[in-house]
Amino acid sequence: MALSVDTIKALVTPSTVHRSVYTDQAVFDLEMERIFGKVWLYVAHESQLRKAGDFVRTRLGTYDYLVTRDEHGQLNVLQNRCTHRGATLCNEHQGNTSRMVCGYHQWMFDLQGTLRGVPHRQSYPAGFDMESPRNSLARAPRVDSYRGFIFASLSENGPSLADFLGPMRGAIDNLVDRSPVGQLELSDTAFRLEFKANWKMHHENANDTIHPGVVHSSSVMTARQHQAEPTPFDDGQTREMLQGNAFTKKEWEGIELVALPGGHSYMDGIYRSRLLARKESDPVRDEYEAIMKQAYGEERASQILNLDRFNNLVYPNLSINAQYHQLRMVYPVAPDRTLVVSRCFRLVGAPEQIYHRAVRFLTNLSSPASMIYGDDAAIFERCNTGLSGSDDEAWIDMSRGADLDKPFPGGGTISAATEAPIRSQFKAWLGYMTDGAHA
Ligand code: FES
Ligand SMILES: [Fe+2]
Repeated sequence: MALSVDTIKALVTPSTVHRSVYTDQAVFDLEMERIFGKVWLYVAHESQLRKAGDFVRTRLGTYDYLVTRDEHGQLNVLQNRCTHRGATLCNEHQGNTSRMVCGYHQWMFDLQGTLRGVPHRQSYPAGFDMESPRNSLARAPRVDSYRGFIFASLSENGPSLADFLGPMRGAIDNLVDRSPVGQLELSDTAFRLEFKANWKMHHENANDTIHPGVVHSSSVMTARQHQAEPTPFDDGQTREMLQGNAFTKKEWEGIELVALPGGHSYMDGIYRSRLLARKESDPVRDEYEAIMKQAYGEERASQILNLDRFNNLVYPNLSINAQYHQLRMVYPVAPDRTLVVSRCFRLVGAPEQIYHRAVRFLTNLSSPASMIYGDDAAIFERCNTGLSGSDDEAWIDMSRGADLDKPFPGGGTISAATEAPIRSQFKAWLGYMTDGAHA
C-alpha cells in the first residue's frame, strides 16, 4: 500500500501517535526508504580500519554493508551482496583481507568492490565486462567521518555530516577528548541482541526518566539487599549502576532532558544527583585525572571530565555514553524486530582499569545477562504485543511535559520529566517521512 503525505500526517499529532506507526509493514518500508535510505548513519569507527585490507561488516537500514580500507588508504562502504547470484559475500563481522571471495561460485572482489576474478572465465560471453558497474558491489554514495566516527548515507544529496550531527558533535568531542591523546579504540567484541518490537521504542526509552524506577525495580531491590563490598573485580560498580535506577521522582526531576531538532536528544546533569556521585577514595580515578591534567591543563581537563551529558541519542541509529565510553547502534530489522549492537571504547593513554570499568558497564547494561537491558527489552515486547493486538482506533500518548518545555539555546527544548525527546523524534520522523511536506 502506498502511503500518501496526508495518510502519514494523520498518524501523528503533537501529543499522540497511531499504533500502526509501530506495527505496519508499509510504514516500516517507507521509513527504510525516507529515513534510513537518506540520513547519515553511523557505520564503523576508524580504529577498526587502520590498515589496508581491514574491513568491518555493518548495516545501512535493513541492508548488509561492508566498510573497507583499500590499498590507497580510502574508505569504501559497499553492499555485502555478491553480484553473481546475490549471496551474502562476507560472513565475518570484521577482519583483514586483500580480496573478498564469495562462498557460492567464488567470484572475487577487491576492496573497492570491483570484480577481479570469476572461475571458468572462458565460459562467459565476449561482452562480459568484469569491471562494469553492474558487476561491482553497490557503493554508498556518501561517506564521511567526524573525529574517527565513520558515517555513510545512501542518498547522493542532503546536509553535510557536520550539519546533520549539529550539537551532537559535542558528545563525540567529549568522548574523544576523554583520551589524554585524543584517540579511541573500539572493543573487538560486541553484544548483539534482538528484541521483538519496533526500533523507535528503543529511542523513546533512551531519555525516558520515569520508567527506570518502575521497569528496573527488581534489580534495584537486588542491589539494595547487598552491602557495598567493593572487590578488585567489581569495585562496587555493578551495585552503583543498578542503584542508579532507583532515583526518586524528585531526583529525576533534577535531570534535564534536551530535545534537539533532527530527533537527537540527551540527559543533562545525571551526576548532579547524589546516587552517582564519585566515591571519596578512588585511586584509579585519581591516576586518570592526573594524566588528563598533564595532557590538557587543569581547567580544560576538568571541563572535559565534568561534562555531564548522558545517553546521547543521534537519531536514528546511534547512542553514545561519553562518561562510560559506550556506543550502541540500533538497526531496524522488521516492524516488530530490532537488532541492538553494543560496544565500548578504550581511551588510549588512560589507565587500563578505566577500560575495565567501561567493559563492566557494557556487561552490566547491554549483555544478554544484563539485569537492566532485559527489563527494557521485555517492556518493548509488551508494548509490541499491546499495539499489535489493538484495533485501528488505538493511539498512544506522548504529552507528558508538553506545557512545561522551555526553549533550549540554539534550538530545541529543555525540561525535566518530559516526553519532549519523543515529540522531537516524531517531528523529525514526520519531516523525513513526508519529505518536508508536513509543516
Ligand atoms: S553467488 Fe556469489 S559467486 Fe555465485
Ligand atoms: Fe531502562
